Amino acid sequence: MIKFPDNFLWGGAVSNVQAEGAWLTDGKGLNVYDTQEITFESGQTVIDSSELASNHYYQYHEDIKLMKEMGFTAYRFSVVWSRIHPLGDDEEPNEAGLHYYENMVDCLIAAGIEPVVSLVHFDMPDNLAKKHNGFYNKKVIDLYIKHVGIVVERLKTKVKYWITYNEMNLAPFHPGLVAGARRPENVEPAVFFKTIVHNTQLAHARAVLTIKSAIPHAKVSGMTNCPWVVPATSAPEDVLASHIRNTYHLWLTFDVMTSGKYPSYYLKFLENRGIEAAFDGLDEIKQASEKLDYLSISYYQTNTIRGVKNENVVAMEDAIIFNQSVEISETLSATEWGWAIDPLGFRTVLSALYQRYQKPIFIVENGIALLETPDENQFVSDDTRIQYHRDHLQSVYQAIQHDGVEIIGYLAWSPIDFLSSHKEMRKRYGFIRIDTTPDENGLLRRTPKKSWYWYQSVINSNGEQLDEA
Ligand code: BG6
Repeated sequence: MIKFPDNFLWGGAVSNVQAEGAWLTDGKGLNVYDTQEITFESGQTVIDSSELASNHYYQYHEDIKLMKEMGFTAYRFSVVWSRIHPLGDDEEPNEAGLHYYENMVDCLIAAGIEPVVSLVHFDMPDNLAKKHNGFYNKKVIDLYIKHVGIVVERLKTKVKYWITYNEMNLAPFHPGLVAGARRPENVEPAVFFKTIVHNTQLAHARAVLTIKSAIPHAKVSGMTNCPWVVPATSAPEDVLASHIRNTYHLWLTFDVMTSGKYPSYYLKFLENRGIEAAFDGLDEIKQASEKLDYLSISYYQTNTIRGVKNENVVAMEDAIIFNQSVEISETLSATEWGWAIDPLGFRTVLSALYQRYQKPIFIVENGIALLETPDENQFVSDDTRIQYHRDHLQSVYQAIQHDGVEIIGYLAWSPIDFLSSHKEMRKRYGFIRIDTTPDENGLLRRTPKKSWYWYQSVINSNGEQLDEA
């Protein structure tokens, strides 16, 4: 019989830039999510604006009430950087922004929900991206740390769980949205990679130290996405390709964060490309690694990769790390947007992470996007979503029960519908439907979907309900 640990945290997660709307309200500045130049992802048909999104800015009380009714014991949200520091280099923070998130935290606590706060989630002030090239520039680390200090000071008596940086491992690969940076034309990809990797590690480390010095009992983590790849065939070059790809797209970030130093494979990577392996701030990275409490992850899909034939080993590695596209396994189904569905892969990833790092893991994102048509009452029968979460939660349970993985909790992506990272509202992830047509008061109607009731019963039974087909 399935039964999760007694103190297991159940809930969901939201990225506030994708949900709030109110993009210039109460002193907020535009950020890289608001201004990003979208390249359509596969399956995408429209780009929606973040001006309104899910109107969560004005309706979060209603959303949190529905989360409480679902039984949430934890909820992850992001404090939007450009709501607190509209330009990023402002002398003083925007009090309205601080007040807003403090109220949100109070609302969660009153509902008996543990707040889990993310600090950078696609929300760097646009001004810092344009003026300084984001985290490519060390000056932005200082501004980020000033911002973190102010947020922490305001929330320190109320928030225990912190995440320094959303999906930091994606920063060198999607630098615009994740790090507010672009590669200058005269800079080689590997050199850019090194700079972004180091600057984000330093930003993370200094954030950990800032949080821990203000809140010694805080639980702090770094976070990665798990872009897991497996070999497309059993051919050795495909196996090697998957190893190289996982090393640089996933392991490197946590290897550095947890050990406090750059691993030997990465020092060789730099040496073989004639890049100097000199780094500032290693002492801070080391100190932060000793204070890291847990690891946060998002998991959505597993893909396959093929090897690259090139007698020049560096060129072969670079092709795998920077250029090789991944494919959907023939054995898996995929969403409308080509995201392969692999719940068993989730167990593999959880187990591999735990064996490598021996740190508790907090699953802070996992979910499926669907195209949905509601009935005349706005009700959505999202059986595919129920199946996705059921299968993935069964894998989580197996990781706990059979692989001995220590898992803090499961935060589904997501309680409510909101814009995708590519700004598409059709790509719905929520347990709660958001009607995008405002009513006469300018509000967007919320309607629990079938999955809302299902997830409620899973939480209420602490997972026992997963036994039932
Ligand atoms: C994660 C991000 O990468 O995936 C989220 O942290 C994002 O912000 C989620 O929304 C799902 O991706 P997408 O592109 O479908 O929104």
